[in-house]
Amino acid sequence: MSNQLEKVRELIDLRAQARLGGGEKAIEKQHAGGKYTARERIAMLVDEGSFEELDMFVEHRCTNFGMEKKKFLGDGVVTGYGTIEGRLIYLFAQDFTVIGGSLSETMAKKICKVMDLAMLMGAPVIGLNDSGGARIQEGINALAGYAEIFQRNILASGVIPQISGIFGPCAGGAVYSPALTDFTIMARGMSYMFLTGPKVVKTVTGEDVTQEQLGGADVHASRSGVTHFAVDSGDEGIALIRRLLSYLPQNNLEEPPVHSTNDPIDRLEDSLNEIIPDSPNKPYDMYEIIGGIIDDGEFLEIHADYAKNIIIGFARFNGRSVGIVANQPKTLAGVLDINASRKAARFVRFCDAFNIPIVTLVDVPGFLPGTGQEYGGVIVHGAKLLYAYGEATVPKVTVTLRKSYGGAHIVMSCKQLRGDMNYAWPTAEIAVMGGAGAVEVLYARDAKEADDPAKVLAEKEAEYNKAFANPYNAAKYGYIDDVIEPRNTRFRIIRALQQLATKKQNNPAKKHDNLPL
Ligand code: HXC
Repeated sequence: MSNQLEKVRELIDLRAQARLGGGEKAIEKQHAGGKYTARERIAMLVDEGSFEELDMFVEHRCTNFGMEKKKFLGDGVVTGYGTIEGRLIYLFAQDFTVIGGSLSETMAKKICKVMDLAMLMGAPVIGLNDSGGARIQEGINALAGYAEIFQRNILASGVIPQISGIFGPCAGGAVYSPALTDFTIMARGMSYMFLTGPKVVKTVTGEDVTQEQLGGADVHASRSGVTHFAVDSGDEGIALIRRLLSYLPQNNLEEPPVHSTNDPIDRLEDSLNEIIPDSPNKPYDMYEIIGGIIDDGEFLEIHADYAKNIIIGFARFNGRSVGIVANQPKTLAGVLDINASRKAARFVRFCDAFNIPIVTLVDVPGFLPGTGQEYGGVIVHGAKLLYAYGEATVPKVTVTLRKSYGGAHIVMSCKQLRGDMNYAWPTAEIAVMGGAGAVEVLYARDAKEADDPAKVLAEKEAEYNKAFANPYNAAKYGYIDDVIEPRNTRFRIIRALQQLATKKQNNPAKKHDNLPL
C-alpha cells in the first residue's frame, strides 16, 4: 500500500471512530433509554445526504481528574451544515454518549463556529440538546463556553431563526441558550429543563419533586410556557422542526418561502355566517374560524397548552406565511391576562423581526380583573403586547368578530397601533365596555331609585347595545376600514395581504427600544 493510500485509510478509520461517539455500549444505552443518538437525529432532520460535518477531530484539552485519558474524537457534539427542503441550515447536536454530552471548552468552540457561520451566511441555526450541562471537570472553562454561546444567541436574535430541540436533559445555566432562542421543542418522558435538579430542590426547599414534575415537557408547555411545543417522541420533535422552518425566512432580510396551494383564494366559508351565538356570553371555538379561513386548514399552533385564552401560530394565506393571533372565547371568555399577553407579545415580535405578516382575530371582553393579575403586574405584561403591536412594521390585518372592549380593544392591533387593514364582522361590538357593565356604572343610582331596578337596567342596556354594540360606530370614524361578510373573510384577508405586500415602514432610529420587560 502506498503512503498516500495508508494515510487515506487512516482518515477513513478516524472518521469511523468519530462516528461512534462514546462507543457502541454508550450508543446501546442511549437506544435503551428510547433516545436516538446525535447523528441519528441529524440524519432525520436534514435532507438525505446533505449533512456536512465540521470539526470531527476536535478533542477536549482538559487534564483535570484524569480527563487526558478520556478523549473522544469530536468531543460531545456533532456540528455542521445541511439543507432542509433544499434550504441551508446550520446545526449542532449534543452527543450524550460522549461524557453525557457535557459541555467542554472545545465543544463550546464547535458550537460557536456553526453559529458564526450561520450568521455570516444568514441561515437558521438549530440546536439539538441532550447534555448533562457544564463539564464538571473543566470548571470555569465550561462556564465560559456557555457564555460564548449565549452571547451569540443574543446577537443572532432577530437576525436568523434559532430553534432548540430538547431531547434529553438540559439543566443548570445550560437552559438559557434554548431560552434565548426563538422556539423550543421538548419531548414527553425524554426532555427535562430546570435550573436546579430535584436533589437541590429537596435540599433547599424540602420539596419532593420528580424530574418530570419539575421540568418535563408538559410542565413547560402548560405551566411555565418555557417550551413552545411538547411532542410525544424524538421523531415527532424532529419532524416539527422541519415543519416550523417551512414558515420562516432564512433571515431577517428575506421573505418566508411561498408554498403552492390549491385552496381557492375566494373560497366562501358559509358556516362562518352563522357561527356567532345569539347570546354574547356563549362561547364558540376560534379554531373553527382559523381552520375555515387559512390555506387547507393547516395551522401550526405554538404554545397550544399555555394561556389557552389566546391562540397563536403559523398558517398560510394563498401560500404565504402569516402569524395568527386570536382570542379564544372558549377559554376564560378570551380575556387577556398576564400569560396571554406575554405569549402573544413574543410571537408578534418574532413575526415582525422575520417579515411575517400578522393576522389578528379579535373577540376580547377585556383584561382579567383582580388582585392576582394586578399583583402579578398585568399592567406591565399587558403593555408588552401593546408595545409589540405598536412597534411592528410588518403588514397587520385585524378582523374583529365579536367583542372588542376597552384597553383590550386597543391592544389587539387596533387602527391607531398602525393596524393596516382593520375589518369587522357585522356582529362586532367595539366599545369602551360591554352593555351590562356600562349601565351599572351609568345608571346604578337611577335603578336604585326606581320601582323596578332590573327593568331600568335592562332598558338602558338595550339602549346602550343599540348605540354601541356594533361595528358601525367605529367604521363611522374610519377606525374600521370595512364591515365584511363573515363567510368572505378568507378572501378579504388575502386581498388585504396582497395589497400590503410592498409595505415599507420604519421606526425611529435608536440603539434599541426599552419595551416593558
Ligand atoms: C461531566 C458528566 C456530566 C457533567 C454527566 N456526565 N453529566 N460528566 N460533567 N456535567 C457523565 C457521567 O459521569 C457519565 O459518565 C455519563 O456522563 C453519563 O451520565 P449518567 O449519569 O450515567 O447518565 P444518566 O443516568 O442518564 O443521568 C444523566 C444526568 C446525570 C441526569 C444528566 O448525569 C447528571 O445529573 N449529571 C449532572 C448534571 C449537572 O448537575 N450538571 C451541571 C449543571 S450546572 P460515565 O463515564 O460514567 O459514562 C451547569 C451550569 C451551566 O450546567 C452554567 C451555564 C451558565
